[in-house]
Amino acid sequence: MIYLDYNATTPLCDEARGAMLPYLERHFGNPSSVHAAGRDARAAVDEARDNLARLLHVKPHEIIFTNGGTESCNLAVLGLARCLPAGALAKAGRSSRGGHIISNRAEHHAVLNAAEHLEKHEGFEVTWLNVSRDGIIDLDQLAAALRPDTRLVSIMTANNETGVIQPMREVSQICRERGALLHSDMVQSFGKIETDLSLVDAASFAAHKFYGPKGAGFLFLRSGLSIQPIMFGGAHENERRPGTENVPAIAGMAAAAEWTSRDREEEQQRETKLHDELWTRISQNVPDAKQNGANAPRLANTLNISLLGVDSETLLIALDLEGVCASSGSACMVGSVVASHVLLAMGLPIERARSAVRFSLGKWTTAEEIKATGDAVQKIVERLQTRKSAYAVA
Ligand SMILES: Cc1ncc(COP(=O)(O)O)c(C=O)c1O
Repeated sequence: MIYLDYNATTPLCDEARGAMLPYLERHFGNPSSVHAAGRDARAAVDEARDNLARLLHVKPHEIIFTNGGTESCNLAVLGLARCLPAGALAKAGRSSRGGHIISNRAEHHAVLNAAEHLEKHEGFEVTWLNVSRDGIIDLDQLAAALRPDTRLVSIMTANNETGVIQPMREVSQICRERGALLHSDMVQSFGKIETDLSLVDAASFAAHKFYGPKGAGFLFLRSGLSIQPIMFGGAHENERRPGTENVPAIAGMAAAAEWTSRDREEEQQRETKLHDELWTRISQNVPDAKQNGANAPRLANTLNISLLGVDSETLLIALDLEGVCASSGSACMVGSVVASHVLLAMGLPIERARSAVRFSLGKWTTAEEIKATGDAVQKIVERLQTRKSAYAVA
């Protein structure tokens, strides 16, 4: 099997597995228990928090453990939007419901649907920023959209489907100048590009995207900011996220974060070469291939292409039969393929969005796998086109 779907999830690294095992076996206590077993588990959670904080140059209490990327993004968007800001709105005695949010049409559904929920059900107004043909947000539109009642701006650092990286430094500067809170979904960018949390007020992460386990993630929330919990229960995580901590997964996540950060730059250079090699092979052999987000800064590991005239679902199934795991941004709904909202937001024609496939590379991707994948794409496209022209003749 050739696994080229690292943006969907990554394999677990040995360091994470090693860090998890004691807490899956002998040290199984509940971190909230006061006895020795509980204290062991608490020590593991504290150590993971300290290590993550050190790695990210933030304070330990600025890290809120969650169960993954979706929960972190939901907590940020819902929890920050619903929180009355300490300033003008509170003084004016305005309701905590309603207010203004800014986001981008190409966000992951974890942000998109949370903001839409606030818009549809809680009286918020959302300004959806457009993205260019290459997937970059319009900074002038952002500056013009900010209002005195803007409670939150949420812009992802890197897109999961295209790998397109947003100009976060400029976004941050605009938000700071206007006093707006900024959340960024960093689920895909962490471990691949530099993570600079000084640019944002909140940021979301998921362990299974950086060689850690599924079921763990965290939200960075700048010191001094309040957030409304989105779940109700115990007083865990400083009353910001209730529920017994997933101790093994948290220990594994911290170990994976350190491991993946260690050789980040060298690994990105390696993946850039493999990415370029894959695109060269495909573009030389498939003249109708187009790269999506080609002119934007992108994550080194992500290649999103449209093979015009080839339906992405058909291509993915054919690739799977050849042993290649890739993916598309489309969702299958009652038998029909829905084109990727990200590519449509970029203004690509529906046919191009419907023929898109994403290859995402990672630490175990080899040059041989890239060659085999290039050959497989060529073979499949030739076969599909021969079949098409046979039908056309018939
Ligand atoms: C950019 C981005 N945000 C959020 C998520 C949601 O993360 P999770 O699957 O851990 O809930 C994903 C997962 O694909 C993602 O790629």
